Amino acid sequence: MTRALVFDSGVGGLTIATELRRAAPDWTVDYAADAGFFPYGVKTDDELRVRLPGLCASLVDIARPDVLVIACNTASTLSLADIRACVAIPVVGTVPAIKPAADLTRTGVIGVLATPGTVKRAYLDDLERQFAAGKTVIRRGSAGLVDMAERAVRGMAPDADAVAYAVQPMFDGPEGARIDVVVLACTHFPLIREAIAAACPPAVTLIDTGEAVARQALRVAPASTGNDPGGAPVAYVTGGHANLAAMAPVLARFGYADVRVVDL
Ligand code: DGL
Repeated sequence: MTRALVFDSGVGGLTIATELRRAAPDWTVDYAADAGFFPYGVKTDDELRVRLPGLCASLVDIARPDVLVIACNTASTLSLADIRACVAIPVVGTVPAIKPAADLTRTGVIGVLATPGTVKRAYLDDLERQFAAGKTVIRRGSAGLVDMAERAVRGMAPDADAVAYAVQPMFDGPEGARIDVVVLACTHFPLIREAIAAACPPAVTLIDTGEAVARQALRVAPASTGNDPGGAPVAYVTGGHANLAAMAPVLARFGYADVRVVDL
């Protein structure tokens, strides 16, 4: 049996955990939310660089997974290499789906919807150079959509005007009207996919990385380590018992009845 640990700042990584459970029904898929340090999207690069490698190493020590999935674009596009250097197991990152978008677009104009952190990353410049040469990529960062996704999983439907306010500027600039593919480059955003789709012109296709990340985890995970004692999946939450209380009902709905606070 294989044990995976899926990690994000909040509930966004649950979209990846769901895809992973679908792709590997016999795996135990644990979850970790750095709720005490959420949101990542507005933190400075230095703050995240200092926190992420040590945090991930500690989570791996506690959860003892066979594979670690960084289910966060903001973290992966900054610290994937540093995290890999700190843990002895395979690490799968989640990065914006620029290549699939470049393959899919017919107009040659792609929108990327991400956190304010991810849209500034050199990693994204590299993805564009490598996979979207000759295409136009229009980036839009929004912390508001992350909050809306956190609220949506707690039963508060996103406000259509607020979603439009976050999304519309992508289409208003030069060439924006020609966008036909929008990359959901934050794992929170598939949680409010319908609301985002409703704020985009009808011909726009939204794509995310959930399935691709799950496939990659299956590819890199060791065949069988005997590491997994079996049993129900566990969710770990940072930031103390207040965060546990806020997250436990959501995590329970995603199959995590066993939620533990970790002091990291
Ligand atoms: N879910 C994270 C991502 O994919 C970021 C959310 C946050 O700002 O913490 O980028």
